Amino acid sequence: MKAAVVEKKGASAKFKIKELVSPSIKNGQVLIRNYASSVNPIDVMVQNGKSLLSSAGFSDQVIGSDFCGKVIQSRSRLFKEGDEVYGMLAALKGGAYAEELAVDASQVALKPQKLSYLEAAVIPLVGLTAYQALFKVGRLQGKENVLITGCTGGVGSAAVQLASTIDCHISGLCSEQHRSYAKSIGCDVVIDYQNQRIPSGARFDLIFDAAGMYTYSDLKHHLNEQGLFVTTRGEMNTLKGLVKTAVDVVFEPNMKFVFVKPKANDLRALRDIIERGDLKLHIEKVFNLGQLTEALSMKQKGGFVGKIAVDIGG
Ligand SMILES: NC(=O)c1ccc[n+]([C@@H]2O[C@H](COP(=O)([O-])OP(=O)(O)OC[C@H]3O[C@@H](n4cnc5c(N)ncnc54)[C@H](OP(=O)(O)O)[C@@H]3O)[C@@H](O)[C@H]2O)c1
Repeated sequence: MKAAVVEKKGASAKFKIKELVSPSIKNGQVLIRNYASSVNPIDVMVQNGKSLLSSAGFSDQVIGSDFCGKVIQSRSRLFKEGDEVYGMLAALKGGAYAEELAVDASQVALKPQKLSYLEAAVIPLVGLTAYQALFKVGRLQGKENVLITGCTGGVGSAAVQLASTIDCHISGLCSEQHRSYAKSIGCDVVIDYQNQRIPSGARFDLIFDAAGMYTYSDLKHHLNEQGLFVTTRGEMNTLKGLVKTAVDVVFEPNMKFVFVKPKANDLRALRDIIERGDLKLHIEKVFNLGQLTEALSMKQKGGFVGKIAVDIGG
């Protein structure tokens, strides 16, 4: 089977298509012919040598998290050959930029029928992150006042659509150029983070820092008394932010992290929402497996809404 292998070259890395041995499956696993994947920020971090994974000195590593394809062999009673499925591999382990994947059946769900392979493949990692942040960590019930940072990115645009399903009032932070897209997916109020401030009197039941650009201290004055701040990252890109976030996690009970988990139950919940027509992510561009270096470069540059999909063919 073909896979896009990261070839380490100094501090950065490039991809090369290689022929690898097909994975074998254990009891409880399925072998999936993977037709599609997507690009996530974690992939760019690995490529740039900015994650623990890439500093571990690997060679010939296959990265990538999201997958969508067909079961071609099953050692689980949950799935049979021919089932169309979607899901994500553990983000730091990766492995999805490949034609065949051995996956625990407990981390796989039937693909939403309403979507193509490519449309379904852009959902798992960001959709699960948003779902778990809002409903598991953030404990949203419905009709809350919510602020979502990075509301037009992968995680953020999924979060806006999910919060809309339970009639939350949604304020979203994004750049001015993406204002109309933010409105179109369900933001009631859009704040341009470069030129505007969150109104000083605004108070939220939940602030979901989907962008991962803020600390609890930055935004705590915008929380209601019982309000929660949930972040994907905290402001970990600066030393000052890292220290502030570490202190907040220890001392602030209203500050929470979300660490996405590849849970089949949550994938099924997302599928139901998708089948009702309430969740679909914009695909800005589709690259094939041989174009991953360009795909990750586009992701790193940013400036677009939604996701980049990867067509693995088949
Ligand atoms: N903890 C976890 O389990 C987990 C899981 C998934 C992702 N993540 C992390 O979550 C973050 C977001 O992931 P993603 O896939 O949604 O990335 P993404 O698609 O690149 O979206 C990031 C968004 O953030 C916006 N943004 C940039 N600077 C901002 C600022 N100062 N204030 C508000 N918004 C800002 C961008 O908007 P504009 O384009 O309009 O500038 C963009 O829409 C990444 O750091 C990723 O590593 C963590």
